[in-house]
Amino acid sequence: MSLLDPLRRDTRLDAYIDHYAQRTHGMTVSAVRALFSVANRPEVVSLAGGMPNIKDLPRLEIGAAIDKLITDRGTQAMQYGSGQGELMIREQICEIMAEEGIHANADDVVITCGSSQGLDLVTRIFCDPGDVVLTEAPTYVGAIGTFRSYQAEIHHVAMDDSGLLPDALRDAIVRLRAAGKKVKFLYTIPNFQNPSGITQTLQRRRELLAVAKEHNLLILEDNPYGLLTLDSSDPTPAIRSLDAEHVIYMGSFSKTFAPGFRVGWVLAPHAVRERLVLAQEAATLCPPVFSQFAISEYLTKFDWRGQIVAFRDMYRERRDAMLQGLTENMPKGSTWTHPSGGFFVWLTMPEGLDSQAILPRAVTARVAYVPGTAFYSDGLGSRNMRLSFCFPTPERILEGTRRLGDVLHNELEIHKTFGLGSEVPRHLDATGAPAPDIS
Ligand SMILES: Cc1ncc(COP(=O)(O)O)c(C=O)c1O
Repeated sequence: MSLLDPLRRDTRLDAYIDHYAQRTHGMTVSAVRALFSVANRPEVVSLAGGMPNIKDLPRLEIGAAIDKLITDRGTQAMQYGSGQGELMIREQICEIMAEEGIHANADDVVITCGSSQGLDLVTRIFCDPGDVVLTEAPTYVGAIGTFRSYQAEIHHVAMDDSGLLPDALRDAIVRLRAAGKKVKFLYTIPNFQNPSGITQTLQRRRELLAVAKEHNLLILEDNPYGLLTLDSSDPTPAIRSLDAEHVIYMGSFSKTFAPGFRVGWVLAPHAVRERLVLAQEAATLCPPVFSQFAISEYLTKFDWRGQIVAFRDMYRERRDAMLQGLTENMPKGSTWTHPSGGFFVWLTMPEGLDSQAILPRAVTARVAYVPGTAFYSDGLGSRNMRLSFCFPTPERILEGTRRLGDVLHNELEIHKTFGLGSEVPRHLDATGAPAPDIS
């Protein structure tokens, strides 16, 4: 093992340093997690994390329903359960997926511990070290972490405002296969993508599917935000609604109900579903039974569709505040996406600025974001940042964009004055004052 290995350097006091499996070498601290300790200070407006705002859920009523669940059906709800997940919730999930045009059988659904575990299980059953996963450029940071943990190679495919480019997808498949690579699947987040906020048009979905069919490629469709439409109440039909054979679909209750229950699901072609259940049993015996009962109760007794409408109204106000704040405060030469749902805006700064280098100065100015490089596996994204509008109030979002605007204007001044780009001397912040060490 090389002394330059990052894990070796970081864990010099670890007596087991030479014992770890190769696959741990690709595991790095998520940029989002590393930020949490500073970004969560109350004085910082965090436009970084993607936590849903669940404050207005009817918590008292949900508490009472859970109380009753324990009294009436606790011996089942607190017992081990099926490796595939409980039938009642799998049937309810089919109703939810129908909202996005999917007609599925509960038998093809596997419950997972959040869609994060779906991602893990799918990668586990398909990827050997060195296999290729294709993703959007940029893509979800958590997926990069999962693919790396199985030593899969990530290759990004270019996108535009309508989503992934079908020609770029075809070229990548052909080029990588010609080089002897095993391309296992395309991972895509078609709705309100994390981090870009971009949504694939229906036409694009059809074209991508055609490429996938032509080249016998599986599509892994990750759709945690699809029902959180902010401009129209009709979601774009899921890719899975267009084809059941080439698509593995993942859903989650994390954004449309609450993430703490850790319930997500995978809908897969039958043979894939078999292997997923085996992998699930090997990993956890069964997904969290109590959470499944609790969510099933919520879906039965509460107006979950009404709750989603309430979430949409709340997030729309925040999205609008973000877009207004960016229009008012960003320096000339900045551009950003205009998401029609979900949680995120993707900002491109004027040339010469580096979002990673600026971050300490932004935190000093009491605003946080996630640097764009976190969403690429190859170091791209330095001119970008992900701004999330889901958690802070509209007032705080406006204040956050004011602070961010000041930071970027200062950076540009420094850039002009010293011609340094973002290479401001480490000991100075953007205003020339000593910067705190947040490393
Ligand atoms: C695109 C995407 N996929 C998956 C997840 C994981 O969600 P879950 O809470 O269901 O594990 C997230 C969470 O932010 C996400 O943004």
